[in-house]
Amino acid sequence: DLEARAQALLAQMTLEEKIGQLWQVQPVELGAETPEGAPLPERPGLRDDIRAGRVGSLLNLADPALVNEYQRLAAEESRLGIPLLIGADVIHGFRTVFPIPLAEACTWNPPLLERAARAAALEASAVGIDWIFAPMVDVARDPRWGRIAEGSGEDVYLGGVLAAARVRGFQAADLETGRQVAACPKHYVGYGAAEAGRDYNTVDLSERTLREVHLPPFKAAFDAGAGTVMTAFNEIGGVPASANPFTLRRILREEWRWPGVTLSDYESVRELIPHGVAADLQDAARLSLTAGLDIEMVSRAYADHLPELVREGTVPEALVDEATLRVLMLKLRLGLFEQPYVDAARAEGFMGREETRDLALEVARQSAVLLKNGDGVLPLTPGAGRVALIGPLADARRALLGCWTLFGRAEEVETILEGVRQFAPDVAYVPGGTVRDADEGDFAEAVRAAEAADMVILVLGEDDQMSGEARSKTRPGLPGAQARLARAVLATGKPVVSVILSGRPLVIPELVEGSAAVLAAWHGGTRAGRAVAELLFGAASPGGRLTAGWPRHVGQLPMTYAHKNTGRPEGGPGAVQFGEPFTSRYTDSPNTPLFPFGHGLTYTRFEYGPVRVLTPEVELGGTVIIEAELTNVGERAGAEVAQLYVRDLVGSVTRPVRELRGFIRAELAPGERRTLRFEVPVSSLAFWRAEGSWGAEAGEFHVWIAPHSAAGAPGTFRVLGSAETEQ
Ligand code: IFM
Repeated sequence: DLEARAQALLAQMTLEEKIGQLWQVQPVELGAETPEGAPLPERPGLRDDIRAGRVGSLLNLADPALVNEYQRLAAEESRLGIPLLIGADVIHGFRTVFPIPLAEACTWNPPLLERAARAAALEASAVGIDWIFAPMVDVARDPRWGRIAEGSGEDVYLGGVLAAARVRGFQAADLETGRQVAACPKHYVGYGAAEAGRDYNTVDLSERTLREVHLPPFKAAFDAGAGTVMTAFNEIGGVPASANPFTLRRILREEWRWPGVTLSDYESVRELIPHGVAADLQDAARLSLTAGLDIEMVSRAYADHLPELVREGTVPEALVDEATLRVLMLKLRLGLFEQPYVDAARAEGFMGREETRDLALEVARQSAVLLKNGDGVLPLTPGAGRVALIGPLADARRALLGCWTLFGRAEEVETILEGVRQFAPDVAYVPGGTVRDADEGDFAEAVRAAEAADMVILVLGEDDQMSGEARSKTRPGLPGAQARLARAVLATGKPVVSVILSGRPLVIPELVEGSAAVLAAWHGGTRAGRAVAELLFGAASPGGRLTAGWPRHVGQLPMTYAHKNTGRPEGGPGAVQFGEPFTSRYTDSPNTPLFPFGHGLTYTRFEYGPVRVLTPEVELGGTVIIEAELTNVGERAGAEVAQLYVRDLVGSVTRPVRELRGFIRAELAPGERRTLRFEVPVSSLAFWRAEGSWGAEAGEFHVWIAPHSAAGAPGTFRVLGSAETEQ
């Protein structure tokens, strides 16, 4: 079996060869001076290192001929012929770019995202990539953090469901390339809780919040078959995540019995030095390996210092063996020993296939969220009235791709202008300045175009470089002079439909107030232009729902619908014993977001019947069954996302005012009615109880079936049991 093969191989390896398996190398010299457009030079000594078995994997390589050259050095010229792992950031598509993950999440459509992940893996695997550094499963509740773009948003439950779907998609065993791909959920753990939304910043979490909020999506990814994980840059309560024995050994190995491979983030082992827990690289190597980190990405603490640390007896060789064995098992499981090479001649044939582009279009359609639609101004009727299209992003290509699109091609992107022209050939287009510059550009021309039109489509927001890694912001609003452009256009009094491109929820209350309709279109990828136009002109219906609330003000951040009630809640049961102002609220803004988690409009109207709890009393080991009727009472077909929320009214510790525990995405024809039935295992109501164990508690619960996290009237149920029977 695989383990026996891996053990047999391990027994033949020198200490240096074992440590080689624990080093992932950047194959190019980043930052080297090259002529414009020329590829970066190869890292000096790379080929010798591979031949000598000093390298176990490479990252972000996408040239199949080069992959084969390196694999040949490893598989045919190294002493033991151990092939390389080729890892890469395939975050939302490879050549065909899908919407950013935050947008994809807004589809609330796990099977669709599974197909999207599979399509991305297929293109990536065709060039020889066998390890995908995704999905990012960090729960993110602060839009100042640029990496909110890369995950599923603020919710733990939804994050877990989508993480599992993406893992299944990436790892779909029947990839036509005949190769296997491993997913790598990241960043383990707590990265999304960076203080003040500043990337790489300190994280200090209670064990309860760690277990209830940040760990579950990783568990869901592992349960779906993910066999690797990437550790985070941040510290957690003083201990960096890449050298954290509590999260890496106690939770992963002892509690979860997870046998997979742990990989650091880019140089996050070296960064133990600036974190201030390691004096030097040798110290960093000792701390990380002892804590349970298997592979070091890029920096060379392991490569340069583990041999000596083992020889002098500071680090037991058994730790190196354990980590190496896991890496060998991964390579064996992926079938790399049997087939290290990729069919380079066929690679291009997998790129941008019609069905993949169609899938990217469908995901882009479903991911857009209609935030506002005053007087049903949308959809627009093709040919009815003159349309002005204004805004620098309307004619942008690269900006539609979003962050982490290392392998996407801007020239393959359809712009929004191109899309709109298919429905309104005579549209008047004016950029109205640039995305980033603070000067006024051609505002006057934009205003003239608006005045001459019956309807304005205003495309505003962020470009692709404004969210993602190291793109935190104190003011996640409209950059440059765009807010002033919007004001000038709104002042014409013409009806304005605002299309917002962004990698995060934006704080734009003024624009929302002034616009007749607002569509959040994110960075929608290769087919974004067509998708946006179809939605605006009614060839497609918006069905996306927010997976992170849009704040009214940056001062509300971080925020989530799943907050606690506090001892002095602003409203609801238990409120106002003292009256104003001594409640938990701001004096200058409502507590609530402008648009809550789960919000999104359609071109039709849905009505919910009252919640029916079929199991008003249920045992701790049982399942709660809840139903409600959903009817499309509008004139058009549409997709509703019915959301099931619960609240545990009295616990041994405080519980959130609502928590998502289920959802059903239902496409209904006009007049169609459907019974929504949810079956919620009581075990899914578990949390980290007062005495420090995981389980649900008996008592009374509220339950909602609602269109978003701030809507609906609850039903109730009771979980029966005593403290002794709780599990
Ligand atoms: O996978 C990424 C990670 O998300 C951020 N740092 C670099 C890694 C590899 O490119």
